Amino acid sequence: MKIILLGAPGAGKGTQATRIASKYGIVHISTGDIFRANIKGGTEIGKLAKSYIDAGKLVPDSVTCDIVKDRLGWDDVKKGYLLDGFPRSLYQAEELSKFADIDLCLNLEVDPSLIMERICGRRVCSCGESYHVSTLNGSTVCAKCGKELYARADDNPETVKARLDTYDENTAPLIDYYKARGKLVTVVCGTKTPDEVFEAVCEVLDK
Ligand code: AP5
Ligand code: MG
Repeated sequence: MKIILLGAPGAGKGTQATRIASKYGIVHISTGDIFRANIKGGTEIGKLAKSYIDAGKLVPDSVTCDIVKDRLGWDDVKKGYLLDGFPRSLYQAEELSKFADIDLCLNLEVDPSLIMERICGRRVCSCGESYHVSTLNGSTVCAKCGKELYARADDNPETVKARLDTYDENTAPLIDYYKARGKLVTVVCGTKTPDEVFEAVCEVLDK
């Protein structure tokens, strides 16, 4: 199974990707996570990516495509993979088609009015877990590993607005791109809980 997970910032890509990867035994590849790991590690890619991520803009296509092309060359992807947050532009989609044959583009459709509150209330753990303050009951540590939770640097209202503009301009056209190729399935998330969205996602993937 080779899947693209498409959706606006805060649509629930990461939340669903963790579940999908675990249930179907495929590798979760998040370009956002790769960039954040590079920023943390102080690499050249991290230094370059930080300025774009902080501004809510896309990291240049050439850098991003090289990273994904390299990652899809690893042995672990042979059993299948899930691309979370890639491609994000028509250029990236065209490049991807040169080195990967995708089975499905799963589009998570979320009500735009929910996004700001979701993202600004997100708390993450360095182990990869993600939470929302509304369900933490005041806890500030990860339920899985006990480490202190924190807010992502780009999860502030100003950067979220810029990320949404970037999505509308660069990424939303991919919906029609994959529809035209017969690969798009949209899951309307509405006010569904993460578990309910996952149920709908599994219905699609089990077909
Ligand atoms: P990235 O890390 O991919 O961020 P994003 O696309 O903005 O998406 P998020 O991770 O914020 O949201 P999500 O959809 O994963 O939602 P989540 O499940 O966490 O990218 C960051 C940056 O890196 C980009 O801005 C760009 O600069 C750069 N970048 C990355 N990829 C790139 C590329 N291909 N090209 C160029 N640049 C790139 O959920 C969000 C919150 O909502 C959480 O609190 C969660 O608990 C909650 N939640 C989830 N589902 C539900 C639900 N059903 N009901 C209620 N709450 C929910
Ligand atoms: Mg994410």
